[in-house]
Amino acid sequence: MEQLRDIRINSTGVGGFIWGDEGKGKITDQIGTDYAKKYPVTIYGPNGGPNAGHTVEANGVKFAFHQLPSGMFIENATVVLGKGKVVHPQDLLEEINQAKEISGNTNPSIKIDCKAVLSLNTHRAFEQVLKTRQNGSKGSTGRGIGPAYADILLRHPLRMRDLILGRFDEFEKHYDLYNDLIKGLDKDVNMATIEVPILGREGKTEVGTKEEFINQLKAVKEKLIPFTEDVYDYINETWKNENKYAYVIELAQATGLDPRWGVYPDVTASDTTFPTITASTEGLINWQEIEHRISIMKATYSSSVGSRKLPTTTPENLASKIRNDANEYGATTNRPRDIVYLDLPALRFFSKVSGANEIGITHMDIVYPDTPIKICTDYQVNGRIVNYRPDQEWLNQVTPIYQEIPTWDRELITRAEKYENIPQEAKDYLQLISKELKLPVTIITNGSKREQTINVTT
Ligand code: IMP
Repeated sequence: MEQLRDIRINSTGVGGFIWGDEGKGKITDQIGTDYAKKYPVTIYGPNGGPNAGHTVEANGVKFAFHQLPSGMFIENATVVLGKGKVVHPQDLLEEINQAKEISGNTNPSIKIDCKAVLSLNTHRAFEQVLKTRQNGSKGSTGRGIGPAYADILLRHPLRMRDLILGRFDEFEKHYDLYNDLIKGLDKDVNMATIEVPILGREGKTEVGTKEEFINQLKAVKEKLIPFTEDVYDYINETWKNENKYAYVIELAQATGLDPRWGVYPDVTASDTTFPTITASTEGLINWQEIEHRISIMKATYSSSVGSRKLPTTTPENLASKIRNDANEYGATTNRPRDIVYLDLPALRFFSKVSGANEIGITHMDIVYPDTPIKICTDYQVNGRIVNYRPDQEWLNQVTPIYQEIPTWDRELITRAEKYENIPQEAKDYLQLISKELKLPVTIITNGSKREQTINVTT
């Protein structure tokens, strides 16, 4: 018999169900705000890095979080960047400064795990040159995520503690290594003059000579020291005291971007599912103890950036309408996203591997009066119902079977403040998703404003 596990009350995990950009930021922000009315709340990020983009609206301004989990705008919140994340120091400092300015909170509580791995301009340059030797992918976000995580597998990662302890001889070795790697790929390229994207007004910078590279890091080191620590004891204490401290754990990216569960080559480098939380916290947080583990999906469609050919791609006229109405452009890269119909075979698969026990549904307001909602209920190959499998050559063979569902009134749903007031068609739709995925829908959003979030139970 399966052993029953303890549930740690006052804890919620939020993850992307499909291919990212599902609106996790707003949900994390809302749940964190609710907890913070009663308890100090920790918003913990276990994976990903500057590739992420969680958009939150605060004080009338839309703000895209990249490395910080979306809790900076919540009073009474401590934001923690976990060991499983990769951190770009210059971008992080810029992001902290921008968020301080928008929130008016000049003294935010931020903790960076001293064991978080560094993702540097060298990684961005290397990724750029490597891309010229690869084919097939529309590419990464260009933020050096893959090379930074690869450093762990290759057993030479630099960590936040190397930076704050000023171990710059290690950074010199790192620079030389990446210089050699890039030269090995293309002997005519000089790493120092490669331009890489950075956060901030300029938007890009050169990697610079070894001295310049080290000096840039020295310039941010002092400013990041107050935020960097061994967070083990803090997590241990706050997690154990479930009646005194609340937790929201925000996964970055989404299940369909996980290297194991997504379609190569459009996958990221970190584990994007709930079990990664246990690894990032060195076993302190058993992911199965998290009370609510909510995977977030968009109501009537999904979006993705990549070269993978998904079976349920929508016609361009609908795609461009949705892109405009829902601002479907990458929060980190501003790239237009592909729009696909809701794909239940993929969702059934992701729900099995993600570790979620609840569903959150965003963008309930993206509906059109004259267009029924089309969802893919099954895949067929040669007349036989088959599963989603994370493989492009498999997906090329499948034929999606669609069902059309009545749409609902956009005005009505946008104005609704509680579940009772949403249109009946929308309620039926939530029931259908819940039944198909065998998980309850517990939260929906019906607009981009902070207050347009409704708790539900299907
Ligand atoms: P990387 O994470 O920069 O290595 O990019 C790998 C793949 O993941 C690319 O297809 C990216 O577009 C996608 N990706 C990475 N982060 C996000 C995200 O936060 N939202 C959506 N797609 C993402």
